[in-house]
Amino acid sequence: TLDTKQFITDKVAEIQEAVGNETAINALSGGVDSSAVTMLGHRALGDRLRTVFVENGLMREGEAEQVVNFFRALGVTVEVVDAREEFFAALKGVTDPEEKREAITQTFYRNVFGRLVRESRAKCLLQGTILTDIDETVAGIKRQHNVFEQLGIDPQEAFGYRIIEPLIQLRKDGVRKVGKALGLQSELFDRIPFPGPALAARVIGEVTPQRIATVRGATTVVERLLKGTGAFQYMAILHEDRVTGMRDGKRDFGFQIEVRCWDSVDARTATPTRLSFEVLQALAEQIHRDVPGVVSVTYNISSKPPSTLEAI
Ligand code: XMP
Repeated sequence: TLDTKQFITDKVAEIQEAVGNETAINALSGGVDSSAVTMLGHRALGDRLRTVFVENGLMREGEAEQVVNFFRALGVTVEVVDAREEFFAALKGVTDPEEKREAITQTFYRNVFGRLVRESRAKCLLQGTILTDIDETVAGIKRQHNVFEQLGIDPQEAFGYRIIEPLIQLRKDGVRKVGKALGLQSELFDRIPFPGPALAARVIGEVTPQRIATVRGATTVVERLLKGTGAFQYMAILHEDRVTGMRDGKRDFGFQIEVRCWDSVDARTATPTRLSFEVLQALAEQIHRDVPGVVSVTYNISSKPPSTLEAI
């Protein structure tokens, strides 16, 4: 079992040793992994750690603001960098799931973050990679956006900076315990997982600002209604196929949203949550009401494997 106190002491010392008298930078998404890394990094380095929230245009409603406010309350300043245009430009016309993930990785690490690291003269990047990310990448299940060494990529050579990964031995449940011990509010350490590629992992086919807006609207409904379920993760997915529906008494060739809600301990396996029919109906009604153009809402009843939690 994990001794969180000892873990924190060890990691703070490791970060201090690795960074020395230099400065470091980290990207905070507000997920439990990057939030725990932010707290560890600030304990270790104080003002020598610059924390940035990259607004990639793929985040959920109000997310940047919420994360900045949470961390302000913890005494940590978070800078928001607007990179929306760059991400959408890189994603234009890309439909293959792995190519989408690659476009996001490249835009993040090489363009946006590479530029920030060079500007700030930081020598190290602190990153919240966890064990499950490595497992799945090595197994060839999915290329996680933050795994390099296991794929033979040297970040120093590829991007010009070192990467420190203090959470690499932990899985999600361990990170939550450490996050709690680091003083994160339950809104942060108890948040459902959200992927690095953000809402782009929930859009099948091309990722455009309009399609992201659709899946974002549906995500807001799903998170509001399923927050109380205690499920491991829940999400909305936008399909590429259009379906015929009715809107204002007319035929409407509209969008199709799939809802997924998972019971899982560590994301390696998962089963769909047995939501009541009333909850399922409320999901459909509120998505139809709040998200323009959606004419069909479905609930996914597959398990992982063979399914995976995210759509891409
Ligand atoms: P899958 O879809 O592989 O998801 O069953 C397993 C867990 O990992 C999250 N996930 C990611 N997390 N970067 C991340 O940091 C990613 O690229 C990524 N892809 C999936 C997913 O949300 C789930 O919790």
